[in-house]
Amino acid sequence: MRIDIITVLPELMRSPFEASILKRAIEADLVSVHFHNLRDYASGGYKAIDDTQYGGGAGMVMMIEPIDKCISKLQSERSYDDIIYMTPDGERLTQSIANQVSLKENIIILCGHYKGVDQRVRDKFVTREISIGDYVLSGGELGAAVLCDAVIRLIPGVLGNETSALTDSFQDGLLAPPIYTKPREYDGMKVPEVLFSGNFPEIEKWREAEAYKRTKARRPDLLDD
Ligand code: ADE
Repeated sequence: MRIDIITVLPELMRSPFEASILKRAIEADLVSVHFHNLRDYASGGYKAIDDTQYGGGAGMVMMIEPIDKCISKLQSERSYDDIIYMTPDGERLTQSIANQVSLKENIIILCGHYKGVDQRVRDKFVTREISIGDYVLSGGELGAAVLCDAVIRLIPGVLGNETSALTDSFQDGLLAPPIYTKPREYDGMKVPEVLFSGNFPEIEKWREAEAYKRTKARRPDLLDD
């Protein structure tokens, strides 16, 4: 998979890809991530990438021209399955969306800033708009990093233990059950006996019941779906 990220703040974006699972995925060539500084596509002495809103109103708007130049250059080099715009008014990121995006070959992620991009960018180029939650960030960069993390860990071969993504919360529509490791008892708190039984169908049954219980208590909306 190839991910091209268009941003005015490439320096803000680098570190999540320089550690742990994402770093290893890149080193193993399972994904490549490329940053494009939008300012490199701006014209004029000031290299402006934004301007005031037509019709008045607070906040600057990212102009279409530098974004068009950057996306068109990328599209002249390869075709893209999706051009994703990170925005608080996009569809809310879910595990199901992460699953869908992880199946793509080449994607562009466009990070908005200030008030966002000129609507014509969205009309002309964007195929999918994603929000990471109902709150407003200063820009799309952190959202893009969250999306990339959620997507990259799903690419086959990225996680050491292939089954571990399958047992994540949300992967089966439920939250994950409680998990335990050594010691068997800590400060009077004991690990549930069933986990030592060696009876794997029983353990699976316990995990399913606990996942259901936790989901019902914390996220009953997931059970409605
Ligand atoms: N840009 C600003 N806020 C955002 C959000 N909640 N999700 C994605 N991109 C954003």
